[in-house]
Amino acid sequence: MLTVKDLYRDFKGFMAVNGANLEVTKGEIVAVIGPNGAGKTTLFNLITGHLKPTAGIVQFKGEDITGLAPYKICRKGISRSFQIVNIFSKLTVFENVQLALFSKYSKTFRMFSKASKYFIDETNSILEKLGLLEKKDLNSELLSHGDQKVLEIAIALASSPDLLILDEPTAGMAPRETERCIELIKKLSKEYGLTILFCEHDMKIVFNIADRIMVMVRGTTIIQGRPEEVRCNELVQKAYLGDIC
Ligand SMILES: Nc1ncnc2c1ncn2[C@@H]1O[C@H](COP(=O)(O)OP(=O)(O)OP(=O)(O)O)[C@@H](O)[C@H]1O
Ligand SMILES: [Mg+2]
Repeated sequence: MLTVKDLYRDFKGFMAVNGANLEVTKGEIVAVIGPNGAGKTTLFNLITGHLKPTAGIVQFKGEDITGLAPYKICRKGISRSFQIVNIFSKLTVFENVQLALFSKYSKTFRMFSKASKYFIDETNSILEKLGLLEKKDLNSELLSHGDQKVLEIAIALASSPDLLILDEPTAGMAPRETERCIELIKKLSKEYGLTILFCEHDMKIVFNIADRIMVMVRGTTIIQGRPEEVRCNELVQKAYLGDIC
């Protein structure tokens, strides 16, 4: 579904992504791991068009999407959440998802029709999937941090993606929220057939849910493989995992 080939991104002489390679197959959950500053978020920004690569290729469903604008990449079927929560905090939970549906259907507000009557069933159905239906009328700034991160996933789902990219989906969550989020990611993959690419610092989560793992160190992919291959790889041990094996 997604192929990243020899991707580079230079920031004034500093190579934040320095030869990244990645394969994501339909239906998989793939994790990108690496120390702080390894280039994980930059890699996701390059895939989703939020940054343009200095060199390299990003292919999605066989098509070259390198350097396309984010909205074009979103329309092709890649949607994402951000490391720092990115929602409209003054809008309700319902309105946040509804607004994303307006964007998906390229619908603009009309002077004499009420925006609130559009996409009600579809919005409710997404919120139900994510366990947020009961909180739909709350202003989203009143949600817990965990619920705000889940709302961001709901917004990402509104564009009906084939590939969902999550940048540290459980960051800052309380343990119970983290567990709920892990179950949610599994459910999105197994029940709804979504392909998921995520990055995460918590190795328990990574080894619990990832079908395959890519390890990035200083912008470079050092291995991509099944969890057991990665866990015992000598380079990964030295560079990152330490005594986890
Ligand atoms: N816009 C930018 N301009 C200059 N340097 C940048 C920019 N964005 C990222 N960097 C640098 O690129 C490197 C990789 O950053 P990135 O945010 O991709 O790492 P990361 O793996 O996501 O880290 P973390 O685990 O802390 O989120 C870092 O050294 C960062 O300071
Ligand atoms: Mg990051």
